[in-house]
Amino acid sequence: MTETMRDRLRRISVFANAGPIDVKESELPENPVPMVAEWILAAHAAGQPEPHAMSLCTVGAGGLPSSRVLLVKDIDSDRLFFATPADSRKGVDIASNPHVAAHFYWPATGRQVRLTGTASGLDRDASERDFAERGRGSRLAAHLHRPGPLPDRRTAHEEFERLDALHADRVPCPPSWTLYAITPAEVEFWQASTDRVHHRVRYLRENPRGTAGDTVWKRELLWP
Ligand SMILES: Cc1cc2nc3c(=O)[nH]c(=O)nc-3n(C[C@H](O)[C@H](O)[C@H](O)COP(=O)(O)O)c2cc1C
Repeated sequence: MTETMRDRLRRISVFANAGPIDVKESELPENPVPMVAEWILAAHAAGQPEPHAMSLCTVGAGGLPSSRVLLVKDIDSDRLFFATPADSRKGVDIASNPHVAAHFYWPATGRQVRLTGTASGLDRDASERDFAERGRGSRLAAHLHRPGPLPDRRTAHEEFERLDALHADRVPCPPSWTLYAITPAEVEFWQASTDRVHHRVRYLRENPRGTAGDTVWKRELLWP
């Protein structure tokens, strides 16, 4: 008998790396943001490819959500940073509605982190610094960004070659290139457990408008 898609999906094993890493309540920090950084590094150490890849969900002016994967470029005590053109779909969405949701999943450690918060673009200096730290290929690729459809693949390759020759010495930062910061208001950590009694810990920012220095987080465990 032919196996259906339903059968195939249901036979795929999950949470192969559940536990033994535990979420110890006594060791939970006051501030969840540095813990996101620690979980990225733990996933990297456990062999997770691209552990800093994060899905980002934005909401457009029409109220419709859209998500995509981005690389997190830095994390400080209060914010996560990523870079993208301001005239991309996500950039346009954020300009009209700064509320975002973001998400990481690391099969290598059986963990996920989800967060909601607000995103805002940083100034030109910060964006240009981010751009300058990128490899040449990535900098040239940033110049390939255009809103609207691409007629065919060849056009993109030819444009890449043209840009490569044009910027032989130095690739300038495109005016739309922007470093964004997400300031989380809510962060939830999830750790798979072999006994299926998975761990969930939610942090809620008590003072949404507070700055990093005076932020107070409320922490609570959630049912699995
Ligand atoms: C692993 C991975 C990493 C990515 N990193 C970035 C990134 O850092 N910045 C970016 O603009 N796009 C990145 N992309 C491409 C985005 O997912 C997306 O296709 C692109 O930014 C257009 O998104 P938008 O039309 O929703 O604005 C990445 C894609 C993948 C799969």
